[in-house]
Amino acid sequence: MPPKPTVLVTRKLPAAVEARLARDYDARLNASDKLLSADEIVAGVQNADALLPCPTCKVTADMIRRFPDRLKAIATFSVGYEHIDVKAAKERGIVVGNTPDVLTDATADIALLLMLGAARGASEGERVVRDAAWGAWAPTGMLGVHMTGKRLGIYGMGRIGQAVAKRARAFDMKIHYHNRSRLSPDLEQGAVFHARAEDMLPHSDFLSINAPATAETTGFLNAARIKLLPDGAIVVNTARGPLVDDEALIAALKSGKLFAAGLDVYAGEPAINPAYRSVSNAFLLPHLGSATTETRVAMGMKAVDNLDAFFAGKPLPARVV
Ligand code: DGY
Repeated sequence: MPPKPTVLVTRKLPAAVEARLARDYDARLNASDKLLSADEIVAGVQNADALLPCPTCKVTADMIRRFPDRLKAIATFSVGYEHIDVKAAKERGIVVGNTPDVLTDATADIALLLMLGAARGASEGERVVRDAAWGAWAPTGMLGVHMTGKRLGIYGMGRIGQAVAKRARAFDMKIHYHNRSRLSPDLEQGAVFHARAEDMLPHSDFLSINAPATAETTGFLNAARIKLLPDGAIVVNTARGPLVDDEALIAALKSGKLFAAGLDVYAGEPAINPAYRSVSNAFLLPHLGSATTETRVAMGMKAVDNLDAFFAGKPLPARVV
């Protein structure tokens, strides 16, 4: 029997995924779930054939240059792959796979949770109950805004954006979207396409950010674009933090230009801009988009499917480069 391929797994994964890795690979697992430094990852892949990283591990061009020649596959435990220098990987003949589709529903669910949580003041409400600061029910107390029937602008109408739209339709929301290309009518389902994001923003009582992090999308939601939103709009982000200019968003939340924001992702997370913590109209979650047991197991299995295909000489089910 040929030796099993060796793979470095940078984080602790769900048990079922680790069991499959241990069965089919010479798997270097991370039982303590300690965050590995760049040098530790480079040391860990010596004499290895593959790397299975998570979005918390940057895989830079410099690291890739120091990878052994025999390492030819990177299977990330994520749909996003901006943490990997895919150009450098390609140059070294390393294929990169990711985990699309399996986290679409979980992430879209969190987007709706953020929309409702931001619109209805869920953070503040929960704090009041926990702090035993709940006075009498008041006709004018803690008033949120209605989500039903409002207009939702979706920036990035890929798999997750479409799943957000599907859920929002159950709230009778009118969907507007901006995407690099217009969807076919069967996918659009009556949503209004805007070739320029700037044309969509004035129609967005709610704005959901669902585009990947790229050089073009970085800093998308800046002060100028926030100005284009209706007064009292609500912004939610389940994509990536760097799409938002934090200072501009915080200023708009403080001034009341925006009614609220719901955020699951942040630039520099977990070291988020500290000003968010004191903004009471921000509903903040710690990157929970894909955090269900079912989804995390499916992501791990998909990452291993990518490795299996690679070592069987077959096309990866989800190949990035
Ligand atoms: C991903 O897979 O890119 C997600 O952000 C993880 O939740």
